[in-house]
Amino acid sequence: MRGCLAVFGLLLAHALALPCHAQTPEFIGSGVCLDCHTDIAQGFNRNPHFESMAAGNLPPAETGCEGCHGPGVAHVAGGGDVTKIIRFAGLAPSAVLDRCLSCHADDLGKMRVRRSSHSTGEISCVSCHSIHQSKEIGPLLAKREADLCYTCHIEVRAQFNLPFKHRVNEGSMKCSDCHNPHGAPEATWASAGSRNMVRHAAGNDIACVGCHTDKRGPFVYEHAPVRVEGCATCHNPHGSTNPRLLSRPAAFTMCLECHNGVAGFGTMATDIPNPTVGFHNIASPQFQNCVVCHSRIHGSNSDRLFRR
Ligand code: HEC
Ligand code: HEC
Ligand code: HEC
Ligand code: HEC
Ligand code: HEC
Ligand code: HEC
Ligand code: HEC
Ligand code: HEC
Ligand code: HEC
Ligand code: HEC
Repeated sequence: MRGCLAVFGLLLAHALALPCHAQTPEFIGSGVCLDCHTDIAQGFNRNPHFESMAAGNLPPAETGCEGCHGPGVAHVAGGGDVTKIIRFAGLAPSAVLDRCLSCHADDLGKMRVRRSSHSTGEISCVSCHSIHQSKEIGPLLAKREADLCYTCHIEVRAQFNLPFKHRVNEGSMKCSDCHNPHGAPEATWASAGSRNMVRHAAGNDIACVGCHTDKRGPFVYEHAPVRVEGCATCHNPHGSTNPRLLSRPAAFTMCLECHNGVAGFGTMATDIPNPTVGFHNIASPQFQNCVVCHSRIHGSNSDRLFRR
């Protein structure tokens, strides 16, 4: 009965070319959907999308089943006509994005999501989120987070099994501690971050310093690559065969890739100040362990050469 009235209203609205608004009678209300879709109804009260639906203070266009699946009158009138309802399985990734962002634009950042490598790579919300079959009811993920990411990023699993690694495969850290799968804001610091959807800690710093707070700075004397190129210049953030997740087996070879003019080893780099000629003797093992002396390699408040 409710359906018939609504269908009549729908035809009338079209005939008079009335503008569509929130109360448009094409919407029938979630209660009707639940009558037929009992399998979906089961457990939906634990879905985060249930609360606003149950509160009953929003028009059906903005909450519940029809908030996502669109107006349902024609679908119901057709006895469950699947061509008259939005089915996500048949939607293009960009259409899924439009649908979900009609409500989640503010919390996720609309432009940021659209520019993210996932969106531009045709990966949509429903590749990662399962609205009705989620095992993790919180953020409605289709699988446990790392397993979800590994379904597409297979090669990353091996990186987290290297001898030195962040403990993601052990479950004590998540990909999303460092990445924002919805895209990261434009970085003002450590541009390497925004390229790979690296999450930002408070204050627009790269995610790393949210945990490694002693590396946050700002320091009176900054070591340029830490701040400009970012942590991944010297560290393999997932895992490494080298201690401290360093990208090179011997730290000094890494230093020398930039400081190739230091005292008698290699040629001068034009953009690095003239080193103390004769002081460093790279042939001597004593000088190879650069960080024994330059121990504040991430920045210092008291020494421009990072020795204390
Ligand atoms: C937040 C958006 C959203 C809400 C709210 C929502 N759905 Fe869905 N629905 C989806 C998506 C996305 C799919 C595609 C399968 C998936 O990702 O789980 C789907 C699939 C379905 C299916 C197809 C069967 C299946 O499991 O694939 C039915 C039927 C359905 N929804 C009915 C409902 C009903 C009834 C309600 C209200 C109780 C509802 N949906 C609320 C997004 C939503
Ligand atoms: C009169 C019973 C009835 C009502 C009421 C009803 N549906 Fe359906 N719905 C069906 C039937 C029957 C199907 C086809 C079932 C199938 O193919 O599995 C269907 C299919 C669907 C599908 C597509 C499922 C798929 O396999 O992709 C969605 C989505 C859906 N309904 C959502 C809704 C929503 C949202 C509402 C409320 C606005 C609603 N339904 C109300 C009977 C109903
Ligand atoms: C009609 C508005 C609406 C639409 C459309 C909608 N959502 Fe939601 N969503 C909400 C509300 C309201 C909540 C609960 C409050 C909150 O956490 O923001 C929610 C919660 C969520 C959560 C859980 C957030 C948390 O903190 O645990 C996820 C994940 C989510 N939605 C994903 C989606 C996806 C994916 C789609 C598209 C298939 C979608 N939503 C479409 C309104 C909507
Ligand atoms: C590549 C996988 C992936 C894609 C694509 C994705 N999400 Fe998420 N989403 C996650 C993961 C993982 C979390 C939990 C960690 C977090 O908060 O970032 C999450 C959390 C959320 C949350 C709750 C926390 C928050 O950040 O507000 C919402 C809402 C959400 N996603 C909605 C969406 C919507 C809408 C889309 C499509 C525009 C989408 N997601 C696309 C993986 C994804
Ligand atoms: C359904 C497949 C799929 C899933 C699931 C998925 N991704 Fe992706 N991811 C992609 C694609 C496709 C790209 C774009 C690749 C490209 O452009 O080279 C991408 C890009 C990325 C990038 C950026 C690489 C770059 O070049 O900017 C990161 C970081 C990333 N994904 C992390 C994650 C994380 C973390 C998760 C889990 C929360 C996840 N992905 C889940 C398919 C997926
Ligand atoms: C400790 C922080 C951290 C964690 C945890 C982390 N990542 Fe990353 N990831 C990064 C950083 C930083 C980069 C950028 C590296 C660069 O700029 O060279 C990156 C780059 C990537 C890339 C693009 C480059 C590539 O190697 O192809 C992908 C894809 C990726 N991560 C996926 C994942 C997945 C999947 C997980 C979880 C299983 C994960 N990451 C967990 C910090 C992290
Ligand atoms: C969520 C917190 C968290 C974030 C974010 C994080 N780390 Fe870590 N990091 C840790 C923990 C915990 C350890 C200790 C690992 C272990 O042994 O389990 C660690 C270890 C390390 C180590 C090795 C330390 C040692 O003494 O051997 C380095 C280097 C490192 N992280 C760099 C980074 C970089 C670079 C980033 C950003 C790309 C980052 N971390 C992001 C928590 C974090
Ligand atoms: C210029 C190269 C370089 C950059 C850039 C760099 N590090 Fe390091 N980092 C090192 C070296 C070398 C060590 C080893 C120091 C040692 O063995 O005493 C190290 C050690 C570490 C350690 C373990 C030892 C400790 O001091 O706690 C952590 C954690 C760490 N770095 C985090 C970071 C973070 C976070 C960033 C970005 C904010 C970063 N690093 C950027 C070179 C770098
Ligand atoms: C990615 C390039 C890069 C790497 C790798 C690198 N540095 Fe630097 N370093 C720089 C730049 C650029 C400066 C700033 C020079 C300037 O101020 O003109 C600098 C400054 C310094 C200074 C201060 C010198 C001065 O005159 O201001 C010391 C000491 C130093 N680095 C030591 C090291 C050590 C030790 C390592 C290895 C653990 C290392 N650096 C790795 C690029 C790098
Ligand atoms: C035994 C301690 C020690 C070791 C080991 C050491 N340094 Fe130094 N380094 C110094 C001291 C002391 C100075 C300042 C010399 C002076 O002012 O005359 C210096 C200066 C520098 C400078 C700045 C030069 C300038 O004039 O601006 C750079 C760059 C540098 N070291 C890089 C390195 C690199 C790279 C390594 C490893 C290959 C290394 N150091 C190993 C003690 C050391």
